[in-house]
Amino acid sequence: MDHRKKLLFSIEQIEERVEYLAQVISKEYAGRELILIGILKGSFIFLADLVRRLTIPVMIDFARLASYGPKSYSNGEVTITKDIETPLAGRDVILVEDIVDSGNTLAFYSEKLKAHRPRSLKICTLIDKAQRRKKHVRIDYCGFKLQEGFVVGYGLDFDERYRSLPGIYIIEQDTSEAGGNEET
Ligand code: IMP
Ligand code: MG
Repeated sequence: MDHRKKLLFSIEQIEERVEYLAQVISKEYAGRELILIGILKGSFIFLADLVRRLTIPVMIDFARLASYGPKSYSNGEVTITKDIETPLAGRDVILVEDIVDSGNTLAFYSEKLKAHRPRSLKICTLIDKAQRRKKHVRIDYCGFKLQEGFVVGYGLDFDERYRSLPGIYIIEQDTSEAGGNEET
């Protein structure tokens, strides 16, 4: 059964924000060697759109992280199910995430990446749920802020569904009771 969903950010609104972020990043990293690391699966569409709007060369890698707990949030236990393969030492790195919620996932993974001694490490997220933060994560580039609700589409899922919707939709039913293992 499909969930009731309401459009929150249209394709046009998303395009505008992605273009803006790409301009800022292109300016700030001009003349440097930039590596973007997409956190699978949620960031795959955002990353694909972002890199095509950058005006500077970029290298791309991916990591996949899983957290355990109820479906709609993570509880702090994060495991790396696919790590990056690119050497980061001395290079400028931006982690690209779909949503920063409790902050558990990125607090954990950005600490791991710091051990690779990148020249710089920043975080770009499509959506920031700042009010729900449990661990401090410094967001350097943010598409949209979201105060409450669970969103799907544009790569974001609920239980692996709705990733292919072109816009971002808010689920109108309560999603907090679902249990299981969450892929970020
Ligand atoms: P955190 O570790 O609590 O910051 O969890 C971040 C991860 O939870 C994101 O990468 C998403 O995969 C997932 N998540 C959190 N909120 C949402 C949402 O509203 N829609 C879809 N996924 C979400
Ligand atoms: Mg997810």
